[in-house]
Amino acid sequence: MSEQFEKLLEPGMIGPVKTRNRIIKTANGTSFMEPDQTPGPRMIAYYERLAKGGVGFLVVESCGVEYPLGVQHIHYFPDGSYEAVQLHLDDDRFIPYFQRLTEAVHKHGCPVSIQLQHAGPWNPTGLLPRDPAIRDIKAPSALSEDELPGPDFLPPRAMTKQEIEDQIDIWASAAERAYKAGFDAVEINHGTCHQGNTFLSRIWNRRDDEYGAQNYENRTRFIRNIVTEVKRRCGPGFAVHVLFNIAEYNHPLATTLEEGVEMAKLIATVADGINCRAERYGHRGGLIQPDRILYPEPPAELPKDLDWSQGGKGATVPLTEALKRAGIKIPVWTACRMDPILGEKYLREGRLDFVGMTRRLLADPELPNKVREGRLEDIRPCTGCLHCFDMRNKNKRLECRVNATLGRELEPEYQCVPATTKKKVMVVGGGPAGMEAARVAARRGHQVVLYEKERSLGGLVPVAAVVKDMETEDLVDLVRYLETQLRKENVTVHRGKEVTPEIVRAEKPDVLIIAAGAAHTKIDLPGADSKKMMKGEKLHQQLKWALKLFSPRQLERLTRIWMPVPSSVVIMGGKLHGCELAEFLAKRGRRVAIAHNGPYTELGEGMTKDDLENLWPWFKLKHVPIWFDLEYRAVVEKGLKIQVKDKRVFVLEGKKVISTQDWGPNTALIEKLSGLVPDTRVIGSCREPGWIVDAIREGAVAGYSV
Ligand SMILES: Cc1cc2nc3c(=O)[nH]c(=O)nc-3n(C[C@H](O)[C@H](O)[C@H](O)COP(=O)(O)O)c2cc1C
Ligand code: SF4
Repeated sequence: MSEQFEKLLEPGMIGPVKTRNRIIKTANGTSFMEPDQTPGPRMIAYYERLAKGGVGFLVVESCGVEYPLGVQHIHYFPDGSYEAVQLHLDDDRFIPYFQRLTEAVHKHGCPVSIQLQHAGPWNPTGLLPRDPAIRDIKAPSALSEDELPGPDFLPPRAMTKQEIEDQIDIWASAAERAYKAGFDAVEINHGTCHQGNTFLSRIWNRRDDEYGAQNYENRTRFIRNIVTEVKRRCGPGFAVHVLFNIAEYNHPLATTLEEGVEMAKLIATVADGINCRAERYGHRGGLIQPDRILYPEPPAELPKDLDWSQGGKGATVPLTEALKRAGIKIPVWTACRMDPILGEKYLREGRLDFVGMTRRLLADPELPNKVREGRLEDIRPCTGCLHCFDMRNKNKRLECRVNATLGRELEPEYQCVPATTKKKVMVVGGGPAGMEAARVAARRGHQVVLYEKERSLGGLVPVAAVVKDMETEDLVDLVRYLETQLRKENVTVHRGKEVTPEIVRAEKPDVLIIAAGAAHTKIDLPGADSKKMMKGEKLHQQLKWALKLFSPRQLERLTRIWMPVPSSVVIMGGKLHGCELAEFLAKRGRRVAIAHNGPYTELGEGMTKDDLENLWPWFKLKHVPIWFDLEYRAVVEKGLKIQVKDKRVFVLEGKKVISTQDWGPNTALIEKLSGLVPDTRVIGSCREPGWIVDAIREGAVAGYSV
């Protein structure tokens, strides 16, 4: 066992349940459930993998206690029918299915809990119907549309006291089903803006009876009664832990840290553990992932009490610390982009009892085992992009940008089976697609050789790391990880060597994988060849050249002082590349305008919904206009001439026009290398320009299939 992680790897207790170590996999919705609303083979395989990976205590994703009102990830159809992509335990018929899930997790010696929740007035997907006749939203008090504390809510009506008592029974019945299905514990989720939180919160709760918010006893009565009733029904061997907002921000009636601590003291008299969360009203996603509120720049007023010194990592640890300082004796934890090193540090300092993690375990479910074996360099790093959360919030199946196999554990194309015939695999291109293909093929026992025309690996990822801003995404770690894996898997890497047909012939590979990235295309526009125009290719060349001298972090800082881009620019293209370039330049004091020759719906394509909802107001603040639904007419002396929908023609002024759209498949290279090796595959942006998630997925599939 690694001494470096003595505390992290130490078993712990959550009430009567012994955990294997101090890493808790906190709940995350997956949309992996079956159409018949049950956890089926896909979901079970996903949880089994997490258990096998060595996590100390596994909390299965949020599960509605009531249906359909209790779930927020649900589609309503025009004929009045509905179908959830979120679990619910409102019926005994589900017990045998969940039993299969708990058996699969227990097989690996991992204790398992399930998060119970009730959506209440929360509408994080923005897809729930507003008509009370379709969705009878209830909360402790009625709130009108105007009184709602943010954009993600629906106005509730007030519950009667009888309805509150009924709800307690609904919660306890769901917990009882979980118990019967073999779970060791349940997490009562009264955090974020779920039904439970509306009782704890003075924003939502204006009752004057014993469930009101007049004092802490009354505010916590609903959750305490639920916990007590669950314990009564499920007995002393079953743990009940809770999740709620210890501190809230951005509203005059938001729960203060002092209030949160007082409520926690009362809740701790009945519960077995507390998962501490913070909430920030008026912002999508609240503070579920504190790091993301720092994008594109930290807001003028950061939520006080929290720790913002590490880019959001460990941000909510002051909450667990406050509970411990207040003398709360039951275990406390939180989840906020902690890694094993940070987690160990906090445990040693006594600031929490368990380390909550979600994203790092999605990126690498084997993280705990790798920590135990001292193989930190083998942990696939989560880059913090929140593509996973975005998929979930769009009710799509969970997907991880860096871990292509997540949720695809049973799909034949993603099986890492040893190669039956050892082949020689030649990979052309050392970007994410090529590196992942090489890594996987070598892992399976093939002899792999990779050629990269630049001196460094990673393709455009290091450039993206500079443009994206090092603080918000850890892209450099991804390249470092892949590079390490290539070395460990004995992949022969040739750097600074452009592949020719002669080289392919000399290598005599059995399989040729072309993953050389996209090619720059000609811009068919009058004036596009003038000095006024700066092609994406040139910008990338400049950045790549600078990356030979400086690290991405140094370059990110240096470009804040100087770079060869004039004071005003017009960017052609409003998808991910255009938006991120605009952000990069605006942060460096350039006056920027974006022109996009497509519809509004394409703006920001490739970015997450949450990031875009931060970015649009930020662009407004920085005076970055976005023009769309237009035609480019010419690059002229004063800037970019465009024609808008109503046929008006005018010039967007800028000292340079920069294109982010001059990309296409690398057909020249594909043609040059075609016919040399019968088994040739083209993957990633070389085939069709896409995002990192596509590159990694295609690389993995190629590696698994050779
Ligand atoms: C895709 C995704 C889905 C999530 N779904 C839930 C959920 O159903 N219930 C919940 O309490 N938290 C949910 N979370 C929040 C995580 O449990 C965790 O608190 C958060 O991601 C911060 O931890 P991390 O930085 O280790 O990811 C979700 C997170 C992600 C990334
Ligand atoms: S890399 Fe991105 S998609 Fe994968 S877990 Fe991390 S944040 Fe989620």
